[in-house]
Amino acid sequence: MPKNTSSTLQDQFANKAQAWSARFSEPVSDLVKRYTASVTFDKRMANFDIQGSLAHADMLASIGIISNDDLAEIERGMAQILEEINAGQFNWSIDLEDVHLNIEKRLVELIGDAGKRLHTGRSRNDQVATDIRLWLRNEIDITIGLLHQLRNKLAGLALEHAATILPGFTHLQVAQPVTFGHHLLAYAEMFGRDAERLADCRKRVNRLPLGAAALAGTSYPIDRERVARTLGFDEVCRNSLDAVSDRDFAIEFCAAAALVMTHISRLSEELVLWMSPRIGFIDLADRFCTGSSIMPQKKNPDVPELARGKTGRVNGHLIALLTLMKGQPLAYNKDNQEDKEGLFDSADTIRDTLTIFVDMVGGIKVKAEAMRAAALQGFATATDLADYLVKKGVPFRDAHETVAHAVRECEQRGCDLADLPLADLQKFHALIEDDIYGVLTLEGSVAARNHIGGTAPARVKEEAERVLAQTGA
Ligand code: ARG
Repeated sequence: MPKNTSSTLQDQFANKAQAWSARFSEPVSDLVKRYTASVTFDKRMANFDIQGSLAHADMLASIGIISNDDLAEIERGMAQILEEINAGQFNWSIDLEDVHLNIEKRLVELIGDAGKRLHTGRSRNDQVATDIRLWLRNEIDITIGLLHQLRNKLAGLALEHAATILPGFTHLQVAQPVTFGHHLLAYAEMFGRDAERLADCRKRVNRLPLGAAALAGTSYPIDRERVARTLGFDEVCRNSLDAVSDRDFAIEFCAAAALVMTHISRLSEELVLWMSPRIGFIDLADRFCTGSSIMPQKKNPDVPELARGKTGRVNGHLIALLTLMKGQPLAYNKDNQEDKEGLFDSADTIRDTLTIFVDMVGGIKVKAEAMRAAALQGFATATDLADYLVKKGVPFRDAHETVAHAVRECEQRGCDLADLPLADLQKFHALIEDDIYGVLTLEGSVAARNHIGGTAPARVKEEAERVLAQTGA
């Protein structure tokens, strides 16, 4: 390769605002410039853009397209650019449209011709697809870590409350007693599946688009496997048109993020309900709540409320990305520049939300007495009475009917099933004996559900310990 090929015409790249502007006869308006630029938001991928460029340059040198001196210059220039960016001294310009052109222009300023050789055999189309994948891979790894931290906190609290009883609800009506630990571990399951989903999505994120160039590949004898290895990609994308075009990996991430927020939102709704003085099952630490500017008695669970609300924007980003992709012909279209802000916001929202929840869940104050009192209302052990009769040979439907009569009687008397004297219970069914009171207690009810996935304290303890071991505590 000739070392220095600059001529006055070629120098124009360094001086012209846009890298592609030599072909154009009039400048774009300021509004169009702002409308088409992405640097205000894609500059957050700068680190990954530089990583990708270095891997590309290393490959170009390995096949002799650029010299080792050029490679050394590119490495030196990029190191300085990275320093400038990290120090907040890099001069981002919307005249240069996006993160890629801003960095490339600065590289040329710093190192001259070697910088101009970097873009050989590459296009911004495969460059941006690579940057997003590198950026997203990192976000996925952080998010999976946070999900496991949250599971760890849930399991820790579950272990403490393996035998704490509260009413379990269906239709938000008291159904059957459950243990609080069991209830918490339901969320540990959900967040565990979220982590699995992200790990699965990561497999498809972690493929290298570079080499696709604009859309058709490149005529240089590039070594894509080498670039993939350098950047830690598991595979290379197998079709150049697809590599620069599809954003299904980002859509998958947004779908997984929407599910994370759906689970966070359900937990939030419960935290809000539980903290209402009408229910009073828990208290949240003051640092997650705010007061009212007018009502001095208020302590509002702002954090879970806001998390519930933020689910909306994350769901919205999924729909936006699906819609962005659906009508695009192959290959790259500028539409794809719209993939970033929603993706960034989804990742930021789940990351911040999970970080806060790890702390908040660890600090939940459980009001076991209130939970127990609530479980004693609403005939939570009615099913246990029916099951008791079934075990004595009564068909389940008949037992169900018998218990319904007993519940009605209790409602009239204003008492619980366990408060009825044996003689009165026997009026409903002669097979009821003294041992019924063991069945009608809350403790008897939960302890009886002693199978995998059941609410018995022994099982909850086992499960909590399993999750704790899995999540490293
Ligand atoms: N800023 C662009 C994006 O985010 C980079 C790729 C631009 N490619 C192009 N041919 N205009 O997608």
